[in-house]
Amino acid sequence: MAKINENYQNVKDSYLFSDIAKRVANYSQENPGRQIIKLGIGDVTLPLMPAAIAGLHDAVDEMSRAETFHGYGPEQGYDFLRSAIHGYYQTFGVELEEDEIFVSDGAKSDIGNITDLFAVDNTVLIPDPVYPVYVDTNIMNGRKIIFMDANEGNQFLPMPDPAVDADLIYLCSPNNPTGAVYNAGQLKAWVDYAISRHAVILFDAAYEAFIGDDSLPRSIYTIEGAKQCAIEFCSLSKTAGFTGTRCGYTIVPKSLVFEASNGGTLSLHKMWNRRQTTKFNGVPYIVQKGAATVFTEEGIRQAHEMVNYYKGNAKIIADTLTEKGIPFFGGIHSPYIWMKCPNNMKSWEFFDYLLQNANVVGTPGAGFGVNGEGWFRLTGFGDREKTKEAMARFSKLF
Ligand code: MLT
Repeated sequence: MAKINENYQNVKDSYLFSDIAKRVANYSQENPGRQIIKLGIGDVTLPLMPAAIAGLHDAVDEMSRAETFHGYGPEQGYDFLRSAIHGYYQTFGVELEEDEIFVSDGAKSDIGNITDLFAVDNTVLIPDPVYPVYVDTNIMNGRKIIFMDANEGNQFLPMPDPAVDADLIYLCSPNNPTGAVYNAGQLKAWVDYAISRHAVILFDAAYEAFIGDDSLPRSIYTIEGAKQCAIEFCSLSKTAGFTGTRCGYTIVPKSLVFEASNGGTLSLHKMWNRRQTTKFNGVPYIVQKGAATVFTEEGIRQAHEMVNYYKGNAKIIADTLTEKGIPFFGGIHSPYIWMKCPNNMKSWEFFDYLLQNANVVGTPGAGFGVNGEGWFRLTGFGDREKTKEAMARFSKLF
């Protein structure tokens, strides 16, 4: 008889964003004609930037000619894209080896897949509230999770507790869902903690492009010692609007080497390469050509313009909340606004209230963990006019 992975009994019935989509679809069906504005999932709304479109078109043409056609590509990504990402990291002072960069179809899949490299009996440290993928993937594998409280008291930036022993540590900065950003000193404390325990930090940098202050770290590798203890994930979804195009990358430094129980050594870089060559056939050539344009001078300028548009939306939301005296975090170096639910409402109660009374969709903070209860996330990734309209509707309620 097949033995099934019983750990799946321990995850919630459905993924947070699928749950929300279902509720909104039901509401729309029951209330036809309502103009619903979605500021829930962090999905982009602007079309792909011209540089990326040109790159994609060129690549499609190449695929139409026998001399420039591409079949299977390297599982790790084409050299032209790895080299472009390498150059991008140099712009914020990080020197990588090009083959430490693995191109993928996005940060979400890699964050889930990386768990293949770690034994089940590791203890995992995860902030709460948090992007649900870190939690769900480890529950699916049956690992022990310790949650660290992120709350108003620590500005949603939990710091290492020497009394807690962890082997794998998930950090996300700028943070999803709270928008909070670690400074260099705080990240250094995490790196020191990880090194002292031979632990590995899994650093989600998906929102690095939203950092508008050069003193804040855009990569964990700007911190001394990080190459000894950290894997970094990033995505073009948020940097350049690739949510529907799918391209990201993961950096696995060669210095991440651990002792094996047989006295040998285990290199996480070699293992990830082995895993990817076995289970992944790479990102389509066409998509990688589009992605490479993002790291050209003109591409960076165009991507920056998009990010500024979304930050402009976040400011519209933030200004409305400030005017109404509603406390919130984020929205400056992040597309996300993490607001306290008005009138002491619970997260899902406020979700329903806002949907029914303003036809605006957000994400209930409780969906990100117990510390998210009573909080609510709004995203700046919407359309400008719809964001303004959503805030005008919101203003009438409070
Ligand atoms: C979110 O809304 O938290 C993100 O869009 C989810 C994701 O990037 O997978």
